[in-house]
Amino acid sequence: MTKILITGGAGYIGTHTAIALVNAGYEPIIIDDFSNSSKSVLIGLEKILGQSVKFYEGDCNDNQLMDRVFSENALTGAIHFAASKAVGESTQKPLKYYKNNLNSLLVLLEVMQKHGVKDLVFSSSCTVYGQPDELPVQEDTPRKQAESPYGNTKIICEDILRDLVKSGAKNRIVSLRYFNPIGAHPTGLIGELPIGVPANLVPFVTQTAVGIREKLLVFGDDYNTPDGSCIRDYIHVMDLADAHVKALEYLHNKPDTYLDLFNVGTGKGNSVLEVIQTFEKVSGKSLNYEIVARRPGDIEKVWANTEKIEKLLGWKAKLDLEDGLRDSWNWQLKLSEQS
Ligand code: WQD
Repeated sequence: MTKILITGGAGYIGTHTAIALVNAGYEPIIIDDFSNSSKSVLIGLEKILGQSVKFYEGDCNDNQLMDRVFSENALTGAIHFAASKAVGESTQKPLKYYKNNLNSLLVLLEVMQKHGVKDLVFSSSCTVYGQPDELPVQEDTPRKQAESPYGNTKIICEDILRDLVKSGAKNRIVSLRYFNPIGAHPTGLIGELPIGVPANLVPFVTQTAVGIREKLLVFGDDYNTPDGSCIRDYIHVMDLADAHVKALEYLHNKPDTYLDLFNVGTGKGNSVLEVIQTFEKVSGKSLNYEIVARRPGDIEKVWANTEKIEKLLGWKAKLDLEDGLRDSWNWQLKLSEQS
């Protein structure tokens, strides 16, 4: 069975990707320090899969542990999710973000080289574009100065991968620039598990609807958009997971030294107020929200040009905003039943 390491594999996108890998005939090996997830997610994951998943509890910055993982498993590739990802927190704790997000990639790359493992799919983000001058944004759109240390770590990691491949290293790498992941597995057994107050829109919406939060604050309706609220490209996490499998398969017949990058979005933008209206439609709940001042660092509008990933990887989003919000709501209801 072709074994693929998933760093941060107990996370939101990591668990959904583990399912996509198993469905495609791979065996996922998870490493996670559970700093931004909970071991309980593995129970839900194994219920969905109907089989156990091998995992290591630990930090990707731990050279010895990573060496052991590669020694104990005949890995044919890796998907690197493990990173600190809270935009706001990164402005308060930049050193934590630079140390963790950069060093964990460097440790992974060094251990891959030591063990002769070439294939890597890297979790990047549309945040590298900043506010694009033209929309939809395509992969050769120049990146802009990041609005946060988190976003800057994604830019620097992309540059590390570019320079590694330019050096002639035997690595075949795809960077995936995610837009805004939402949704959950339709069983409601796994999903986004924000620790503390959610920074992202959709978990805050579902927590408000279920009564955990008193109301949603909409950060600004004075932007240059049709309804004044910010526009994003909300991609269902199940579609996003499938894109990782397609990226691995794309690398199989590439030269030993290869790099490419792809936008992973639906190609459609929706505003915050449209997300609220769509949520109310799919959930039948009326959402308590208040328009307040803009959030510093927010860009106004971004959505993906997806021609390249459709053409080269044969991948296109199958699920839309309604599907994502319906599945996020179902997950929130299941979570509330458990508590
Ligand atoms: C979306 C829109 C907010 C919360 C960031 C990172 C990206 C990725 C996802 C990690 C914005 C508005 C939000 C709220 C609101 N990071 N909003 N009230 O900022 O587009 O992307 O998170 O995976 O790399 O850049 O996502 O969900 O925080 O915000 O009005 O309580 O919702 O202003 O317009 P964002 P988000």
